[in-house]
Amino acid sequence: MPFTAATTSERHAAEPIEVIPSGRALGVEVRGIDLTKLGDAAFARLIQVWHQYSVVLIRNQRLSDQELIAFSRRLGDLDWAPIQETGRRFVEGLPEIYIVSNVKVNGEPIGSLGDGEAVWHTDMSYLEVPPKASILYSLEVPPLGGNTSFCTMYGIYEALPQTLKDRIAGLKIKHDGTYNSGGYVRQGVTPTDDPRTSPGAVHPLVCTHPDTGWRMLYLGRRRNAYLVGLELAESDALLDELWSFVDRPEFAWEHVWRVGDLVLWDNRCTMHRRDAFDPSSRRVMHRTQVKGEQRPS
Ligand code: OGA
Ligand code: MN
Repeated sequence: MPFTAATTSERHAAEPIEVIPSGRALGVEVRGIDLTKLGDAAFARLIQVWHQYSVVLIRNQRLSDQELIAFSRRLGDLDWAPIQETGRRFVEGLPEIYIVSNVKVNGEPIGSLGDGEAVWHTDMSYLEVPPKASILYSLEVPPLGGNTSFCTMYGIYEALPQTLKDRIAGLKIKHDGTYNSGGYVRQGVTPTDDPRTSPGAVHPLVCTHPDTGWRMLYLGRRRNAYLVGLELAESDALLDELWSFVDRPEFAWEHVWRVGDLVLWDNRCTMHRRDAFDPSSRRVMHRTQVKGEQRPS
């Protein structure tokens, strides 16, 4: 079980970095670093830890948007954020920043996803080459709720019965680009609920992670997903069967946010979801997304 986290912490000899696994199937906290002053050796160690645990939490940061972008660029070129449902850019002049927020100014949301549940998903997998990483940084958090959970697609694949693994081997899945995880229609898209004709990208249903070499299930999101070549009903039944594994608590780690938390997740081998929260409280997060280097395969 390559994804299984050890429960002990370690102190790396060369760098003053503390690595504290969540004890869950994925997720780790790294302590003792300031992301604005991270040396190359510490950065290399961080990437190693990220590959091993898929999701890394770094607390107590104070980052400007430019510093968030500068750190994110160390992982690779950045994708531009999806455009707001209203058609506007989130931050003028900084197309890399995606704002996740329920806050409204003059009646207009400053960000995406509102205050409701965001269902399990992978970011922007409707692209031919989806981002390899997402980096979410918290500026304002509600006193309660709005927690974000992550699940391991390595662990979920590994847990499938062999007969199911055999049935899905070689299948391709359409990742829909119509709706975001909050249920909102993406900018410029005509909504449709026929996954065979909706915009999106087709990827292998089972992929090998290019850095770890581990096999994983690649589901993207449930709504409007389609297993290419199958009858719609057959595709939906098989997808429902696969998705029945996703909500099992043993595959997930839940993060309770504090201001100044930065979470870096591997967008290829994890999915995430967010709980709803009290609409009268404020939640403001800024996200970057690092371009993938190759099509999922
Ligand atoms: C995201 C996302 C959920 C959250 O930033 O990609 O899905 O917890 N965010 O805000
Ligand atoms: Mn997301």
